[in-house]
Amino acid sequence: MTRWYSERKRDHYYKEAKRQGYRARSAFKLLQIQKRYGILKKGGVVIDLGASPGGWSQIAARYASMVIAVDLQPMKSIEGVVFIQGDMTEEETLNKIRSYASEVDAVISDASPNISGNYTMDQARSVWLCQNALKIAKEFLREGGNFLCKIFEGEDYPEFLQEVRQNFRMVKPHAPQASRKQSSEIYIVAKGFRKKY
Ligand SMILES: C[S@@+](CC[C@H](N)C(=O)[O-])C[C@H]1O[C@@H](n2cnc3c(N)ncnc32)[C@H](O)[C@@H]1O
Repeated sequence: MTRWYSERKRDHYYKEAKRQGYRARSAFKLLQIQKRYGILKKGGVVIDLGASPGGWSQIAARYASMVIAVDLQPMKSIEGVVFIQGDMTEEETLNKIRSYASEVDAVISDASPNISGNYTMDQARSVWLCQNALKIAKEFLREGGNFLCKIFEGEDYPEFLQEVRQNFRMVKPHAPQASRKQSSEIYIVAKGFRKKY
């Protein structure tokens, strides 16, 4: 795909997000994943990690009875969404999640590190966030629950993917159409959590 084309596409999703009232272009990525894999169930509880400004939470709230959204940055309120401003890698934040739910149906993470420009470092930070998202999934997901996580492809990616495979019945790496082609971000879609009691 040429740079011209991918910029046009990015612009298209940006305008569409504005037109449809989504807070972020990334909403379309979740919509595409949901259409294909059905990771969000009606009436479930969802943890949305790296949630701000709230595009994914807007989509998740259409399905869920409650969305627990977490981000370092503030987020404007959305009906059906409780927001925790905090670091998803810290115990204090997990305690706040615990105060809302002990078991959830899906954990979704679009968390990204601040891009430093040093890809090796950014990729390692992305994997670190994913490891924390998986840790949260392992604690909170009910048997059969679903997990979705954005990751930058690179050195540690295969090992992380393997770890996800050990915990879920179906795992698929997915590059949504709404992603920029130049970026190396990929979404790991995992369904059917095998809970270890
Ligand atoms: C691409 S944005 C998420 C967009 C969001 N999914 C949406 O649809 O609006 C990535 C987010 O990850 C958050 N983030 C990065 N590191 C984090 C951490 N340790 N804990 C919580 N949030 C984090 C950033 O603050 C940023 O808002």
